[in-house]
Amino acid sequence: MPDWRSDIRILSIPSCAIVPKIIRLTSFLGLQIPPVNSEDKKSVSQQSIISAKDVYRTFEIGSSRIEVLRGVSLEVQAGEKLFLCGASGAGKTSLLYTLAGLEKPNQGDVFVRGESLYQMSRARQSRCRNRHMGYVFQNYALLPELTARENVLLPSMIRGTNDHPRAEDLLSRVGLGDRLHHLPAELSGGEQQRVAIARSLINDPEILFADEPTGNLDSKTGASIMDLLLSLVDEQQKTLLVVTHDTALAQSGDRMLHLTDGKMNQ
Ligand SMILES: Nc1ncnc2c1ncn2[C@@H]1O[C@H](COP(=O)(O)OP(=O)(O)OP(=O)(O)O)[C@@H](O)[C@H]1O
Ligand SMILES: [Mg+2]
Repeated sequence: MPDWRSDIRILSIPSCAIVPKIIRLTSFLGLQIPPVNSEDKKSVSQQSIISAKDVYRTFEIGSSRIEVLRGVSLEVQAGEKLFLCGASGAGKTSLLYTLAGLEKPNQGDVFVRGESLYQMSRARQSRCRNRHMGYVFQNYALLPELTARENVLLPSMIRGTNDHPRAEDLLSRVGLGDRLHHLPAELSGGEQQRVAIARSLINDPEILFADEPTGNLDSKTGASIMDLLLSLVDEQQKTLLVVTHDTALAQSGDRMLHLTDGKMNQ
């Protein structure tokens, strides 16, 4: 993943050089972002939980222009397990980040339960991500100075709930009940990804986004991580969007979409 995609945004904190200090402050001084608005808690309706309408994402470097997403539209229903496949460079990560509220499209829009994600105020968008969305990435994106339990707890601290029992329960559910106080460097790759999965579920989000969650793991560990993710998603009735280039793994979802050169194959 390119380093401009600051991992820290998955925690719904502004991305800037001071972020580690903000994290320490929010963690240890108990500062919180504003609580969730009651409008955030809309009742479940028949509409798609998340949808993209004619999304374009373009990068300009010097005089060259790269059209990464070229008019992508899709709808995801609540409870669906959707796999997004495509070759390297097809625009999968760009699309996932756009759907997840992390990268504004140049054109088009993304809707969460019918509400435009990119028309929201920044604070509301952050609350929406922190409350409704969980993230799992290929490189785990754990904070190295924090223990497994602290990493899992962090989105809950940001939300202001500090749900220690849920953090410990989730770590037990992913088989790491005896690794609560280990730092990421003291965990294997598969264990770090389990911590990231537990973290993605701490705020009980409706939607989980996973970008190549097994990409750094050997095939056996990768398959067990995918099984774990799918069983947790089933058990906790989440909506799951997974990016992968592995079409075999993608068979385990409800639906598979293919992205080719920034366009969705029909
Ligand atoms: N910030 C950027 N500036 C310029 N080009 C970019 C930027 N981010 C992505 N790209 C280009 O957009 C294209 C799609 O990138 P993206 O990361 O979405 O692909 P991907 O399908 O996830 O690939 P992979 O499977 O290798 O992760 C690539 O050609 C990439 O070089
Ligand atoms: Mg990618």
